[in-house]
Amino acid sequence: MMKKLLHLAALFAPLFISVNGRAQTLTVDASKPAADIQPTMWGIFFEDINFAADGGIYPELVKNRSFEFDTPLMGWRQPNSDRHSLNKESGMAVIIKEGSGPNKNYARVTVHNAAGYRLINDGFRGMGLKQGEAYTLSLKARKQGEGVEKINVRLLDGNNNVLGQAAFSPDGAEWKTYSADVVPSATEARAHLEITFEGNGVIDLDMISLFPQDTFKGRKNGMRKDIAQLLADLKPGFLRFPGGCIVEGRTLAERYQWKKTVGPIEDRELIVNRWNTEFNHRLTPDYYQSFGLGFFEYFQLAEDLAAEPLPILNCGMACQFNTGELVPMEELDPYIQDALDLVEFANGPVDSKWGKLRADMGHPEPFNLKYLGVGNEQWGPDYFERLEAFTTAIKSKYPEIVIVSGTGPFPDGEHFEYAEKKLKKAKAEIVDEHYYRNPKWFLENADRYDGYDRNSYKIFAGEYAAQSVAIASPDNKNNWECALAEAAYMTGLERNADVVYMTSYAPLLAHVDGWQWTPDLIWFDNLRAMGTPNYYVQKLFSNHSGTTLLSILENGKPLTGQGGLYASAVLDKRTGETILKIVNASGQPVERDIRIDGARRINPSAVKIVLQSDDLQAVNTLDEPTRISPSEESVRVRGKNLKAQLAPYSLNVYKIKTH
Ligand code: AHR
Repeated sequence: MMKKLLHLAALFAPLFISVNGRAQTLTVDASKPAADIQPTMWGIFFEDINFAADGGIYPELVKNRSFEFDTPLMGWRQPNSDRHSLNKESGMAVIIKEGSGPNKNYARVTVHNAAGYRLINDGFRGMGLKQGEAYTLSLKARKQGEGVEKINVRLLDGNNNVLGQAAFSPDGAEWKTYSADVVPSATEARAHLEITFEGNGVIDLDMISLFPQDTFKGRKNGMRKDIAQLLADLKPGFLRFPGGCIVEGRTLAERYQWKKTVGPIEDRELIVNRWNTEFNHRLTPDYYQSFGLGFFEYFQLAEDLAAEPLPILNCGMACQFNTGELVPMEELDPYIQDALDLVEFANGPVDSKWGKLRADMGHPEPFNLKYLGVGNEQWGPDYFERLEAFTTAIKSKYPEIVIVSGTGPFPDGEHFEYAEKKLKKAKAEIVDEHYYRNPKWFLENADRYDGYDRNSYKIFAGEYAAQSVAIASPDNKNNWECALAEAAYMTGLERNADVVYMTSYAPLLAHVDGWQWTPDLIWFDNLRAMGTPNYYVQKLFSNHSGTTLLSILENGKPLTGQGGLYASAVLDKRTGETILKIVNASGQPVERDIRIDGARRINPSAVKIVLQSDDLQAVNTLDEPTRISPSEESVRVRGKNLKAQLAPYSLNVYKIKTH
């Protein structure tokens, strides 16, 4: 009976809840700027995880194109090969290792019966091909004797229908690159590439590549357009790269070494990706780093996104969740030299060693590197000893470079507190904090920086994401509950923009068929990419970052969860807009009167953008990518007052023209 009465009461309740019939008032003072918002406030964190680089934004379609994987024919199939037959009725590719350089392997194909032999590459869980778009098909070949007259390459769908093809006539005993444009006749998400031969004999093959020509900003060896466009749409203030734990490596030998990722592509020494079998779920042993996306391409991507580049370097420590290998202090110099050389690579004159390489790669102008991260998620005294050595060396040569240091993997606890003390004492500049916590934590910690020491270092909220189940659980979802909690938390980051200088959700990218870590901001398959609800939260904040912080108060206090509400306000001096972000994290509709003081003139017509769902478990999918996405409406401002009707579980952005 009681349940029924409550139900009835709910039916007759006013649509939007107010106190004593009158809505409470939120006051914004447009004439009192509280701080400048840093252009780097909302950025992106790129890590090569979940096929983010190879198989993702780096759109090479051939996996293991140069046969350098630890199992050199991984990714390649040769049905009916002579491998297990003594009759030599078909043919066979074996791997030859020549010398010791980064591209030492090639495939030697012996064709006994040209009609019976095929060499096939399946790409990264198939190859995504788009009808009518041009792809560059290229390979290096060298004839051994006269037998093989032709190399035929076909792109096939799952039923072996031909989508496109090219033929090359190899003509010499020296390595030569052969290339052709191929335009598929149909769109296919799981195509494969097949190589056959005419004439029996022996031929060597290497660097077999299929690359789309329509890349982001039309760059050769450029980025997959749809994924990069989603990044561009965020208008990120910075691009952090290349991670994450990938920087550290499970062992020091597997750490990220930027120098091995620049120069000619075939000379970049690939290594296995640590996010292949890190967890027991969804093993991806075929996940490597070809470094086709290397440091030059990262800098170029940052430039194309108009984002500040923020590289993070290994500080002489392998991942402490794995081996935790340490470089002794007296052997740290080469690591520090890598950091100094990176600054020269990014900013140095074209007649310097590393500046010249940048110029040779096509970018004589400097990349204007301003920030450099030392270490990723390190903790304990070993880190601070190494950080000090790096900082001293970098600052003495490049005093203008801002050093980004870190507090380790957790936002609180013993290691965090130790790090805080050390970093304060060392007068750190910008410090990276990570929070992978449940949605409740985000809601409860929206005031994290309200009482922060204003004389201490600036904050880089470098990796955060609400976890719907638990950190590293394969069941975590990018659901609306998590995204909404992040939005609430982000009002707290914005409210403290005088000390919070940089922020980024993590990780950024995941292939639906090749991931180990969830949640992720953007999911993609071989043809499509989509933003999660979390993506749209990030986009609303970063597209409305403003230039100047304002206060928004209820009863003289910031909104940090009272009545389920969270709020922040900024002024955009470029557009003359006062921008309010209000999160209603409650399941009830809420009404508030908003009063804007301190403006000489307020335009009566304003814009409200809403991101909302009644279903906290709702997610976006590749088939329904905008299920949770922003919608826009006009609202009226009467004098200096605006009635805000805040739907349950909603993020609301108000844009009001003020003078
Ligand atoms: O974002 C995934 C991982 O989480 C990052 O590599 C690491 O820095 C953090 O532990």
